[in-house]
Amino acid sequence: MEKIIISTPDSISAIITGAKWEAVVKLLPEKGAAIITDNNVFDLYGADFPDFPVLKIKPGEQSKQLDVIGNLSKKLLDIGIDRTGFILAIGGGVVCDIAGFLASVYMRGIRCGFVSTSLLSQVDASTGGKNGVNIGDIKNVIGNFKQPEFVVCDATMLSTLPEEEYSSGLAELIKTGIIGDRTIINVLEKNHTGIINRDKNILSDLVAKAVKFKAKIVSKDEKESGLRRILNFGHTFGHAVELHAGVKHGFAVAWGMELATTFSYKRGLIKKAECNKIIDLLKKYNLSGNYNIPEKEIGELILHDKKRSGRDINFVFVKGIGKAVVKKIIVQEVIDFYRFYKSVK
Ligand code: GLY
Repeated sequence: MEKIIISTPDSISAIITGAKWEAVVKLLPEKGAAIITDNNVFDLYGADFPDFPVLKIKPGEQSKQLDVIGNLSKKLLDIGIDRTGFILAIGGGVVCDIAGFLASVYMRGIRCGFVSTSLLSQVDASTGGKNGVNIGDIKNVIGNFKQPEFVVCDATMLSTLPEEEYSSGLAELIKTGIIGDRTIINVLEKNHTGIINRDKNILSDLVAKAVKFKAKIVSKDEKESGLRRILNFGHTFGHAVELHAGVKHGFAVAWGMELATTFSYKRGLIKKAECNKIIDLLKKYNLSGNYNIPEKEIGELILHDKKRSGRDINFVFVKGIGKAVVKKIIVQEVIDFYRFYKSVK
């Protein structure tokens, strides 16, 4: 078991990897807690949940809406959760996003903690305190930063993930390797069979590596005013294809990483051999997508991303495996690159 600390000006958050999720009960108050989960997670693990009221949401991104927050708030009131209460989320990225946001606004903020059940949420989404709900198809327009008191990541829970969910999470793991920890890439290259077979020990080690890197970044820049932006590697084109074609987040980010890596090479930031290594790794894990956004729509889709400021965009480039850099460029440069990319693909 490892305990990784995220320390921000207002909070301390402990990310616990390699532990049994059922041990979460020791981290909860004796009374006044409520559990938020989705129907899928409840069907798999509900029988072993701690003995507190359970509020269920429908699985999937469509639940990230304000009316869901309203409905859950009513239910929390009905079961008597007051300002001293505690919300425990047991689920993947969507459940943790909803529960974290709810905990940040319910009665002006109550305590919360997560059991993170998907690979994508263990290696990225549930760590770092970002939460939010969508407005229409625009993601996380209404949200907050609130660090959960703890996040429990148990790799045995990853064995029940549908194949698509698991692969989608691998993309965010590869992202972390590319931007900050080369050893993650080495493990992914050398242990393909073990990772595809969801070897619990290898996964525990990889999750801990990813969380350590993210904890370092978030502890320095919780509110994404600079450094934290590197975590958005692959997300400019990724969010565009997510919006355009409804591609699942990890697959969209994988495609975005392939483009961002090629863009980095074109700008002379990364060597050909490193560029090929990244693209080959994406292929090895079946994450090499071939999506097609009409050229005339790409600019509009990128500008749709709330992370833009004016005509400029903070684009994350890679300088070599394990090293990312953010450069402010004009959106037109991204559009021009996309045109080039399509012409040579
Ligand atoms: N998923 C990117 C971040 O947490 O900042």
